[in-house]
Amino acid sequence: HELAISLDEIEKAGYPHFMLKEIFEQPKALADCLRGRINPKKGTVQLGGVADVMDQIVKANRIVIAACGTSWHSALVGEYLFEYLAKAPVEVEYASEFRYRDPLIGEGDVLLVISQSGETADTLAALREARERGALVLGICNVVGSTISRETDAGVFTHAGPEIGVASTKAFTAQVVVLTMMALELAMRKGTITKEKAKKYIKELDQIPGKVEQILKECDETTREMARLFTYAPNFLYLGRSYNFPVALEGALKLKEISYIHAEGYPAAEMKHGPIALIDEMMPVVVIAATDHTNDKMISNIEEVKARKGRIISIMNKENSDVEELSEFSISIPSTYDCFSPLLTVIPLQLLSYYIAVNRGCNVDQPRNLAKSVTVE
Ligand code: G6P
Repeated sequence: HELAISLDEIEKAGYPHFMLKEIFEQPKALADCLRGRINPKKGTVQLGGVADVMDQIVKANRIVIAACGTSWHSALVGEYLFEYLAKAPVEVEYASEFRYRDPLIGEGDVLLVISQSGETADTLAALREARERGALVLGICNVVGSTISRETDAGVFTHAGPEIGVASTKAFTAQVVVLTMMALELAMRKGTITKEKAKKYIKELDQIPGKVEQILKECDETTREMARLFTYAPNFLYLGRSYNFPVALEGALKLKEISYIHAEGYPAAEMKHGPIALIDEMMPVVVIAATDHTNDKMISNIEEVKARKGRIISIMNKENSDVEELSEFSISIPSTYDCFSPLLTVIPLQLLSYYIAVNRGCNVDQPRNLAKSVTVE
């Protein structure tokens, strides 16, 4: 009888849910994703899967990234990275919108699709549409041998390992790591960053798995405490700017998916065009204030929320006393380049949504009405 441990329990490796296991697996998943692809000593990036088409990417008229759900959020981070590092114009599309819009894409253009499962119907359809129109089609997938990974011209696997929890966590950060490597390789090819600068970025990228590990250690208890306090909040607002705007969207999505709390992510400056009307003492506002170049602006946003009695939870860079003083709770993340910050700021948000969902008695790994891969339209 005692031996009758289910396969499920073995696979969870002592964690109560796959989602928590996958959150804590991120240091390893990201290290696996980077392995053999970056050389911090030499300052080089080499993505074997796209090596043959790199020239075409460099020369591309335009790059469109299409995806769904969490993968769409990583695409948005990718847009910022490609534009900032490689000065490449990028558009991000919901795969479902792209496919039905008679999209302006053809020869000389690149469509990059991002999909954890590699099976999402809308993303697959977007890929087929672009390929028919003559575009070069690239993929970032987690599942090796998946339909999308087989149908693309070239691509990069995330190597994050199997993701079982319906709410995507490690696949998201691994996608962002791949996008970062792509942006850096493209930037070096195009000469938009110097060799020295590239080397600094690559050295820092190599440190990211360790920094994620540090965050997991340092913020687990605080996020639990926050979750206890906010378990029954009816709504949540997430605000971010720049690289951390997509993280605001992702934080809100994580909470919606598994705890069924209504949550919205917004670019912080847009708050005044609507969401500010919702703010009162019942409204927790998660502020991702870890992007240095927009710090002052975020502080003004926090003050606006506080003036309306909203409750501030902040994710901030270490020793940001202004933000800390204004917040009811704050979690500090280790310093990094602004453009790498999403890889760190998303971690506490994953944990927060997880602990809230557990407190609410929700089925974390299999939330109602959702599926891990959506193979129907
Ligand atoms: C579903 C899943 C999400 C995922 C989205 C896209 O909605 O529940 O977690 O982000 O599909 O999936 P993909 O496999 O294409 O990344």
